[in-house]
Amino acid sequence: MKITVKAPANIAFIKYWGKRNEKLRLPANSSISMNLSGAYTTTSVEFDSKLKSDILILNNKEVVGREMERVSKHLDLIRSIAKSKNYAQVKSTNNFPKGAGIASSASGFAALTVAAAKAVNLNLSEKKLSILARLGSGSACRSIPNGFVEWKMGNSSESSYARSLFGSEYWNIYDLIAVVGENSKKISSTEGHAVAESSPFYKTRLSGMKDKVAEIKSALKRKDFTKFGEITEAEAINMHTVMMTSVPPLYYLLPGTLDVISHVLELREKGIECYFTIDAGPNVHVICKEENKRKIQKVLSDIKSVKTVLINRAACGARVI
Ligand code: DP6
Repeated sequence: MKITVKAPANIAFIKYWGKRNEKLRLPANSSISMNLSGAYTTTSVEFDSKLKSDILILNNKEVVGREMERVSKHLDLIRSIAKSKNYAQVKSTNNFPKGAGIASSASGFAALTVAAAKAVNLNLSEKKLSILARLGSGSACRSIPNGFVEWKMGNSSESSYARSLFGSEYWNIYDLIAVVGENSKKISSTEGHAVAESSPFYKTRLSGMKDKVAEIKSALKRKDFTKFGEITEAEAINMHTVMMTSVPPLYYLLPGTLDVISHVLELREKGIECYFTIDAGPNVHVICKEENKRKIQKVLSDIKSVKTVLINRAACGARVI
């Protein structure tokens, strides 16, 4: 049976950076995110007893090597639960640039997990799917539940999964992604996590996490956009400080990134409220309320280094289509 799944990318307001257990992808802290309506992966999986190995076709091109091995390893995990030996053909497309900080591994592994589990006839709960997706790529566990999501760090594989805090209709805020670079990053986030601890600021980052998560959850509950945005922006800078001060240092930001940041600050000075956040890549996610969306979109589109602006609001989690 061929199963097709659409899974959203997600943007973390409180980031996952650094792991307590690399193999199990247990994060060093809990994180908070929103699924993105305009950035998603569509994946179909079909197990076939005639296949001699797994096949991965990504954006219409067959993929081999490390990327393929990571997918095969994830399929092995699902096969072992289902006690199946069949290989699979996996076809996957992203509607956004891969490896550029729009969490392609999150939507990719969320879609792969749900499609493969269904295709091999496993009927798993959302919690189980989130745990499985986490084992493929940590942030993928947040693309399983709906809307606004919390990934509780937990203290074991079974207790580290994401759940929905609020559905996608809860709050009409937007994430306008100013794309300034479309090339895959040189250092993957998996490699980045592994060196986070080497930053002298990492311990300080983690010591403030519990309070930060509680504060942003409270702001979300109150729909306090100003507080929510301030925490989000400070958190992105906090993570990039750790990145840039780790050994080796990781510079995901490009000149265009800083260009967009300065426009965000200018917009705010003019009373147009918006805040930025950035993942492990150069693109800037500008968070705003609906009433300012058009104006901000126009300003971002007019910046020379901005190639395109992707518009997102909160979306539901991974779904069979
Ligand atoms: C900067 O989930 O890609 O986007 O678990 O090694 O696959 P792996 O890492 P990944 O890390 C995402 C890091 C981030 C922040 C975030 O999304 O929380």
